[in-house]
Amino acid sequence: MVLAITIPLVAAFFLISLICICFWRRRKPVVRLPLDGTRPEEIASVESLLLDISTLRAATANFSEENKLGEGGFGAVYKGLLPDGREIAVKRLSTSSSQGFGELRNELVLVAKLQHRNLVRLLGVCMEEQEKLLVYEYLPNRSLDTILFDPKKREQLNWGKRNKIIGGIARGLLYLHEESQLKIIHRDLKASNILLDADLNPKISDFGLARIFGGDQTQGTTSRVVGTFGYMAPEYAMHGQISIKSDVYSFGVLVLEIVTGRKNGGFSNSEYAEDIVNYVWERWVKGTILEILDPSLTNHCPRSEVLRCVHIGLLCVQENPSDRPNMSQIVVMFNSNSVSLQAPSKPAFCIGRSGMDSGAYSNEYNLSGGTHDQSSSKSIPASPNEVSITELEPR
Ligand SMILES: Nc1ncnc2c1ncn2[C@@H]1O[C@H](COP(=O)(O)OP(=O)(O)O)[C@@H](O)[C@H]1O
Ligand SMILES: *[C@@H]1O[C@H](CO)[C@@H](O)[C@H](O)[C@H]1NC(C)=O
Ligand SMILES: *[C@@H]1O[C@H](CO)[C@@H](O)[C@H](O)[C@H]1NC(C)=O
Ligand SMILES: *[C@@H]1O[C@H](CO)[C@@H](O)[C@H](O)[C@H]1NC(C)=O
Ligand SMILES: *[C@@H]1O[C@H](CO)[C@@H](O)[C@H](O)[C@H]1NC(C)=O
Ligand SMILES: [Mg+2]
Repeated sequence: MVLAITIPLVAAFFLISLICICFWRRRKPVVRLPLDGTRPEEIASVESLLLDISTLRAATANFSEENKLGEGGFGAVYKGLLPDGREIAVKRLSTSSSQGFGELRNELVLVAKLQHRNLVRLLGVCMEEQEKLLVYEYLPNRSLDTILFDPKKREQLNWGKRNKIIGGIARGLLYLHEESQLKIIHRDLKASNILLDADLNPKISDFGLARIFGGDQTQGTTSRVVGTFGYMAPEYAMHGQISIKSDVYSFGVLVLEIVTGRKNGGFSNSEYAEDIVNYVWERWVKGTILEILDPSLTNHCPRSEVLRCVHIGLLCVQENPSDRPNMSQIVVMFNSNSVSLQAPSKPAFCIGRSGMDSGAYSNEYNLSGGTHDQSSSKSIPASPNEVSITELEPR
């Protein structure tokens, strides 16, 4: 009798507590409201960021074609002029984000708080009538790609200017990764997201967008790959693994583009020579790297400095993310010539070719002075056809 009563009773008790625990764990808050508990003065700054849609319509002539600066993955960008005379760039987001407006606005306010000499300032946001508009400062010299990949205009960029641009990008990225409160991974670093002010100081744009619209996580694996082929680190493009080291990869590609003046063709092109990482690596191994520097550079530039830049770029595009330096190391390497650099290992996406691996590391320029380690340059040959991506959005 006693057993017949107690056993079902105990069993029922355990079952109920199990169900309770399950429910309790599920009800943990999923939504993080970053502005919870903010001080009144911060809420005031939120209000000052919100702009009227009528103001922006007037500033951009009702988003007319003539005012359009360009179009990217998140939407079109329009030039505008505020009544007080300030020039602005308005990004009209086309994304159908599932996020609520309040949460989105809070995230944008956090991004607006990131301020650095090498970041484009977000001046305000506007979310009315189903529109999501981001208002940035306007930069008269547009983006780096418009100068760097134009055969005429790129002659303006002598080595001193390019050096300054690379250094500025590195400092901006260091701020995003390590110094800001948000620890942002950019995920879409590329030449068209580097804007130049009147003195050709570089400013990184579109940071925070990938974090807000592209995915759910700041670290780890994501099923939504946001980025641009050619700049994306292989582990990110293929497995969705994001980390600060995937940004470092994109930075490396950017450095190689700035030094060679060549646009990375990326994957879409079946011509391997279009892949800048391989292109540079092959010359580096053969010791003929000087051939591929931008012709408008070669005569008047300190070779050792340029080669050191190529070297840093190659360290950034190494296949193994943990071999790549982080941004604070890069800034140190970049600023001090006395810091010796490791020999780079073979970059990712290198099409395996016989003779390439066994070939001696014939770097005749003696850049590092360090040991040339050939054993570390083993990598799995990757083929463009094997890439599989779960879901792809253009940035
Ligand atoms: N703040 C800005 N000032 C001047 N030009 C800008 C600004 N923001 C964007 N642009 C220009 O608008 C173009 C489109 O920008 P975007 O939508 O971010 O696309 P993407 O970066 O993919 O090219 C860029 O190529 C750039 O030249
Ligand atoms: C602005 O353009 C929209 C369509 O894009 C149109 O409906 C609206 O009437 C226009 N407003 C003005 C003031 O021209
Ligand atoms: C763009 O940069 C050049 C320097 O190369 C400078 O002379 C020019 O004034 C800048 N353009 C604008 C619109 O500020
Ligand atoms: C960058 O690398 C240095 C040296 O390895 C290390 O001390 C530092 O913690 C790293 N920074 C980050 C953010 O990982
Ligand atoms: C280059 O480095 C090697 C050893 O790494 C050294 O023997 C040689 O003298 C160096 N050459 C120059 C020009 O510095
Ligand atoms: Mg952009």
